[in-house]
Amino acid sequence: MNILIQNGTIVRSDKTFVADIFISDGKISQIGNSLNIQERIDKTIDAKGFYIFPGGIDPHVHMFLPTPAGYSSDNFESGSNAALFGGTTTLLDFVTPKKGQSLFDALKQRMAEAENSLCDYSFHVSPIEWTQKTEKEINECIKAGITSFKVYMAYKGAVGLEDDDLKKVLKAVGKAGGLVTIHCELGDEIDILRDKFVSEGKTEPIYHALSRPVELEAKAVQRVLGFAKEANCAIYIVHVSSKQSLDIIAKAQQSGQKVFAETCPHYLLLDDSEYKGTFMDTVKFVLSPPLRKKEDQDALWKNIQTGFISTVGTDHCPFNLSQKSVGINDFRKIPNGAGGVEHRMTLLYTYGILENKINWNQFVDITSTQAAKIFGLYPKKGEISVGSDADLVIWNLEKENTISVRNHKQNCDLEIYEGFKIRGAPEFVIKGGNLNPDIKQGKFLKRKI
Ligand code: URP
Ligand code: ZN
Ligand code: ZN
Repeated sequence: MNILIQNGTIVRSDKTFVADIFISDGKISQIGNSLNIQERIDKTIDAKGFYIFPGGIDPHVHMFLPTPAGYSSDNFESGSNAALFGGTTTLLDFVTPKKGQSLFDALKQRMAEAENSLCDYSFHVSPIEWTQKTEKEINECIKAGITSFKVYMAYKGAVGLEDDDLKKVLKAVGKAGGLVTIHCELGDEIDILRDKFVSEGKTEPIYHALSRPVELEAKAVQRVLGFAKEANCAIYIVHVSSKQSLDIIAKAQQSGQKVFAETCPHYLLLDDSEYKGTFMDTVKFVLSPPLRKKEDQDALWKNIQTGFISTVGTDHCPFNLSQKSVGINDFRKIPNGAGGVEHRMTLLYTYGILENKINWNQFVDITSTQAAKIFGLYPKKGEISVGSDADLVIWNLEKENTISVRNHKQNCDLEIYEGFKIRGAPEFVIKGGNLNPDIKQGKFLKRKI
């Protein structure tokens, strides 16, 4: 479909300007003020008064994640539909092998699960153990276009890695020139606190939060920075939630270490007061790391402004109330996670841009451009320039709504942003040159180092 978009305000991470965009064959083929179009035009959009920016890239989602409480409630089709509705066109999910399964086998299985994604997609592959074959498998993944890996310092006994194995992963990925993304929380110490609380009869969701204090996140960050330096491996710390962790990361960045930080909308907009109340009120906020204090929120916004935080991902991982309720008598059984892929752009517009916490260019940077650069997708993704994929959001500044479980597209009967007033929404979403709702299947994105 060839589309001409006229008179829109184009926002990139480096500049803002008014121009026309011509899309043909799924790519941006011209940008300018008096375009010379020789080809057929199938559709013309008058975008006067609208803002146009690159489709969002969510670098951290968990669709159809297997847990003892069942799969996370959005599969690739429903989750990507919600993502598109909110202006996100590319998803980076995860491959989590079972014990004994090769990384490459797990990748093939995950590719089949993701086939019905409407967004384009790639994965971070998670070594959950170190075997004699792991280094070879990491290199096979890189050859197949998977250049980032994921390790968990928490969730010991399930997917968490012991420190010695973590060091081996960092060394192997560092040698190959890839990137390791890391969930930083000290799992052993958390497990001791969890068991202690339950043995004292403290079983409610608030004890999930109390068993995962900021110090255990910050210590994990400090530890892994040391390991990564030793291994000469670039790292990306996912869902950074606290000021303490950020201070350590900022210092490492200033010293020249290659470390990126991601935070999530829930750490910017929600705080630990959400854990006060009944099981039904509080269980939806059981996610890791837990929600922190207001001071942490301020530090996160500041670190976005200064650039120490590169990306805002959602960690989209919704579970229905029936799934969360398996932990009614024991918070340790509650599956961790909450949805958010649909709301990231509008939340960052409403509570970031409109509240003068970030400007438009920073908005584009943290929702799209940086993720593309860090994860080997740039400039195909994350940019409005000639030759880039035509993944664009045409944003209506005036739309207003209230987030609710009653109207969200995410497949979940819980909503952590229930009642949040939002401004701004996509008027049109274009992916690969196709307009929503005619967007067809997404593509697997082979990435490069
Ligand atoms: O609570 C969370 N974040 N669940 C998803 C898995 C993870 O740790 O990212
Ligand atoms: Zn995590
Ligand atoms: Zn996650």
